Amino acid sequence: MLQILCLVLCGLLTGTCTDPGALLRLGMDIVNHEVQSAMEESHILEKMAAEAGKKGPGGKPIKGLSNMKVKDVLVPVITLNFVPGVGIFQCVSTGMTITGKSFTGGYMEIIVVLNITATNRLLQDEETGTPMFKSEGCEIILVSVKTNLPSNKVISKFLDSTLHKVLPGLMCPAIDAVLVYVNKKWANLTEFMPVGQMGTVKYALTSLPATMADHIQVDFSPVVQQQKGETIQLADAGETPKFPEHSAEGSSQLLLSATFLTAELALLQSSLDVTIQDQK
Ligand SMILES: *[C@@H]1O[C@H](CO)[C@@H](O)[C@H](O)[C@H]1NC(C)=O
Ligand SMILES: *[C@@H]1O[C@H](CO)[C@@H](O)[C@H](O)[C@H]1NC(C)=O
Repeated sequence: MLQILCLVLCGLLTGTCTDPGALLRLGMDIVNHEVQSAMEESHILEKMAAEAGKKGPGGKPIKGLSNMKVKDVLVPVITLNFVPGVGIFQCVSTGMTITGKSFTGGYMEIIVVLNITATNRLLQDEETGTPMFKSEGCEIILVSVKTNLPSNKVISKFLDSTLHKVLPGLMCPAIDAVLVYVNKKWANLTEFMPVGQMGTVKYALTSLPATMADHIQVDFSPVVQQQKGETIQLADAGETPKFPEHSAEGSSQLLLSATFLTAELALLQSSLDVTIQDQK
């Protein structure tokens, strides 16, 4: 079993790491998956739609439109892009039907297709030290607007001003609500995690994750502790570890240093009855 482990580790390492620590490159594959699943988990657009019909502190009345309801929210399509040095640009394409009684007294139906865009800035939570995203500059871009009302200047002016008044308040909180779910995924990152029965490892962040053109780089200084709470010192080594040159586009990689693995294996040593000698 240890031989298999060694093969796997050696394959991962390819002799490039000499630094104590672990480096994570979060590619678009993982980021996309996390944001999509946060969106699904939160059922946010459906909740927003349900809220829109209720009268509450958030639901401002709209001049010329009463009994407003939102229905038939389209499954959102999310597009993400890295913004170097900042975070992630997010575009949520969706659509919905807004109904109500118009100023003309008749039933009104507006079918709107729109994009919600915002920049999710990558910051550090001051209290916990974990990374977090915070949205900035949310905008609603109308892609198409259809209505049952006759098309004339008065109606299109009414529609335009109504939609520009209603939609940001309705949709922008969705971006923040989704980020709450995304941010939760970082939550346990810096907790102590068990390594078998013999000890724990904690992936402390060395610095704030940095956003590059095609990934987010997360730099860890792992703390390896024995069950009794004694920290195993990671041997110091000079060179910065390097990622392999050719990796699939959008993919994520995890680079573990030999010294870190040595410390982890040292934890398992007593139960495996082996001697670990080679730092490489
Ligand atoms: C809306 O977003 C989609 C997907 O990102 C994009 O293809 C489209 O051009 C956008 N439309 C507008 C009007 O910005
Ligand atoms: C974080 O840890 C708590 C308690 O151990 C657990 O209930 C929760 O599911 C964990 N969260 C994630 C995102 O793994």
